[in-house]
Amino acid sequence: MEKIIVGNFKMNLEKEEISNYIKQIQKNRYYKKAVYCPSFLYIPYFSEKDIPVGAQTISSYNEGAHTGEISAKQIKSVGASHVIIGHSERRNYGKETNEEIYLKIKEALKENLKVILCIGEKEEEIEKRKEVIKVQIEESLKDLPKENIIIAYEPIWAIGTGKVMNQEEIKKVSLTIKNIVKESKVLYGGSVNEKNIKSLAKIEEIDGFLIGGASINPEVFLKIIEVAVTM
Ligand code: 13P
Repeated sequence: MEKIIVGNFKMNLEKEEISNYIKQIQKNRYYKKAVYCPSFLYIPYFSEKDIPVGAQTISSYNEGAHTGEISAKQIKSVGASHVIIGHSERRNYGKETNEEIYLKIKEALKENLKVILCIGEKEEEIEKRKEVIKVQIEESLKDLPKENIIIAYEPIWAIGTGKVMNQEEIKKVSLTIKNIVKESKVLYGGSVNEKNIKSLAKIEEIDGFLIGGASINPEVFLKIIEVAVTM
């Protein structure tokens, strides 16, 4: 089954680098099989070339006096189809709560955006992982419709550390999530790269991957996309 691939560039790449990145990926036949999430600034660079693109967060407000914020409507108006919400870096540095994440998801759904809701436990929470992710999911989604929600499970201790979660564990968590949100698509994120993608892509219980560091280099990311969509 073809996997969903999402690249989260985080706060990386500047204007020239983005233009080169786009030129590079366009040489490969599979480049449109991934969703690229650059900084807000560069969303139009992708959408204008008809390349699937998403944002890394949005405001929990609709419009108005919220200096520096960017709304669901605004990202939609420049061609974004997806938005990552509740990334652990935002929960951690931005002090985002499940309640705020819920409000953001609500805004995104109003605009028909596909939401990539990030959840995952800290290293010291591994023992109570099931509890932690259940609370994150339930408090972030409440009664919202689930059709446009993709859940990205990213154990925080695996993000940018080179430590990938054991595959049996990945399967188990994915099934736990699918049990909480029926029929939901589940992505795995945390140190996915061009070397481990071959074995990770074989996990049937996982519907795709959310990739940070390895998405910033176009050649590396294309290798990942190619493996994930042709297996
Ligand atoms: P890395 O792929 O760099 O571990 O980052 C994962 C991530 O946070 C994607 O959102």
